[in-house]
Amino acid sequence: MDDIELAESYFIGKKEEIIKTKRITKFVHGRDILVIHHKGTFYAMDLHCYHAGGSLENGDIEEFDNKLCIVCPSHKYKITLGEGEGIYKATNPRDDVPTPRWYSKGIKQRMHAVKEVDGDIFVILSSMPGWIESDYYQTEKYRKERSSC
Ligand code: FES
Repeated sequence: MDDIELAESYFIGKKEEIIKTKRITKFVHGRDILVIHHKGTFYAMDLHCYHAGGSLENGDIEEFDNKLCIVCPSHKYKITLGEGEGIYKATNPRDDVPTPRWYSKGIKQRMHAVKEVDGDIFVILSSMPGWIESDYYQTEKYRKERSSC
C-alpha cells in the first residue's frame, strides 16, 4: 500500500477479530460505518439505512434476485452488498399476467471499499460523487435531530 492509499485508509480492526464477531461499527472520519464479514468477504457501508436511518448492524444477510443483500431490521428494506442498491419486489398491474418481479431503486446506500494489510482491516471511504440517500444520516443536522429526541 503506498502513502496516498494509507492516508485515505482508516483502520477498523484486526481481521481475525472481525471474522469472529462478524460485524463491527466504527466512527470513521465523520461517518458511522458498518463492516461485515460474510462467507469470506468483507463489506463496508454507511451504518444508517437510507430509508429512515435505522441501524443496519443486526440486519440479516440474504440473497434476492441473485444479489446478496442486507435486510434492514427496521422496515425490511433490502440493500445490495455489492452496490448499495435498494431493491424491492412488486407486480406491475399493467402486465397481461401480473407477476411479482424485482425492481431497483438505484444506489441508495453508500458503500465503502475494504482493504486488508498484514491481518489488519482498513476502510477506504467512498468518493462516489453526488448525493446518495444514506448521506443524510451522516450529517450534523441528523445527529442533532437524533440527540434532541
Ligand atoms: Fe431501514 Fe426503514 S430504516 S427500512
